[in-house]
Amino acid sequence: RLIIWTRVTPREPGFVTVEWEVASDDGFADIVASGVGNTDEAVDFTLKADVTGLAAGTTYFYRFRVGDVLSTTARTRTAPSGATASAAFAVVSCSNYPAGYFNVYREVAAQPVDAVLHLGDYIYEYAPGGYASANAEALGRVVQPASELFSLADYRGRYAQYRTDPDLQAAHGAHPFIVVWDDHEIANDAWREGAENHDPATEGEYSERRAAAIQAWYEWLPVRPPASEQEIIYRRLPYGDLVDLIMLDTRVIGRDRQFVYPDFVSGGRIDIDATRAASNAADRTLLGAEQLAWLETQLIDSSARWQVLGQQVLMARYLLPAPILEALEPSISGGDALAAGTAAVLAAVAAKNKIPEERTVEEQALLDSAVPYNLDAWDGYAFERDRVLEVARQMNSRLVALAGDTHNAWASQLVASTGEVVGVELATASVSSPGLEAVLGVDAAGLFSPLIATLVDDLVYANLIDRGYLVTRFGQDTVTAEWRYVSTIDSQDYSEKTAAFRQQVVQRGDLLLT
Ligand SMILES: [Fe+2]
Repeated sequence: RLIIWTRVTPREPGFVTVEWEVASDDGFADIVASGVGNTDEAVDFTLKADVTGLAAGTTYFYRFRVGDVLSTTARTRTAPSGATASAAFAVVSCSNYPAGYFNVYREVAAQPVDAVLHLGDYIYEYAPGGYASANAEALGRVVQPASELFSLADYRGRYAQYRTDPDLQAAHGAHPFIVVWDDHEIANDAWREGAENHDPATEGEYSERRAAAIQAWYEWLPVRPPASEQEIIYRRLPYGDLVDLIMLDTRVIGRDRQFVYPDFVSGGRIDIDATRAASNAADRTLLGAEQLAWLETQLIDSSARWQVLGQQVLMARYLLPAPILEALEPSISGGDALAAGTAAVLAAVAAKNKIPEERTVEEQALLDSAVPYNLDAWDGYAFERDRVLEVARQMNSRLVALAGDTHNAWASQLVASTGEVVGVELATASVSSPGLEAVLGVDAAGLFSPLIATLVDDLVYANLIDRGYLVTRFGQDTVTAEWRYVSTIDSQDYSEKTAAFRQQVVQRGDLLLT
């Protein structure tokens, strides 16, 4: 069973009848399912067919017809059932149209995978000239409509523009997509009742904006609408007995408002105790009570070889000595943040590289000052994260958390409060949104990539400078992660950046990243 999707460019207003066909071959000699659907303005002329009766673990081809106009042919694949030896997913996030060409989608289209997991930021809500738009005019990628997105018509117009991109079309045409939203499908740093980039005083009711954004998301993405509330996108997709793919919503349904470091600055310093107390508070929630209970049930009931979380924000602990974060916090540093940050990083790395007995009191205190790097991630909701990891520990889960959101690539151990490793986190770079190189400069970001893996206890790998994607191949006893990058997004003349390629093989037995 799967959803096929198209959108009709209408010649005139009113109702359009669309025929669809699913075949086992791309010549459509062997048509296995077909049907007719209707679409109109009410759904922005998009059409989804929920195709049933297909064989498991099988590749199909599909196309649509309106009168004598035939669509291009697309390929898709059903999930396997029963005994399953392997499954592969391409993982992408943060596809920002004005930031550059979607070369990453072009690469993803060519990968032999079962499905593409898009972990959110499929679109961005900004006006022309907004975030990451410095090259947009030169690249012919100025966003439409020519405003920030607020209304249903705005969001529809932005999806329509993204969907004209030939590289995005190629990726959709080659693989089924399994999608969840992050914040920019609505507005930056969205949470349950608002967003950083939403001012109710001048931009209207947040709930209305959110409803418009969600409606357009369902119209323009190949997602089966839920029977009940449209806000509920958390769901489980089994890939036979091998993988339980557990997709989460860490933005809309339950998230408490994010902390930001200015909340914890006192006397020009980060108040470490206050930061830890707030981010570890037991009543603080990222998933919300219902989704958390549902997730725990999934982990308890899962008998698959791997429990895979398809979700947005980094889940592992990313703690850095407070002086590094103070250097990067504009409300504290003011002056040359990069020089101060570099000095703080080098001092911390020097301390970290000594065995504990050889550290000075100051060096140990520096390392002991570690606080979360990113309060918008699970680190800002640590109690709930630790509860999920504890359930995974008790159930002896084989947990693989996939993440997007940061625009950079990461690999970390997931470690329960007991100190036991319960899984790995594999996080993808962005399709096109800028990473830390845009903040630090390419040289400093390149320098920091290995240093940050030294500094952060559970972190094994970071790439802070390249655009790319992640391929995860699950077998009975191993999961192989491959981070693949492109040479540029400023030109369609690009190549795979093989020098940055990184592979990690994780054994199911010990779950260790090496
Ligand atoms: Fe993003």
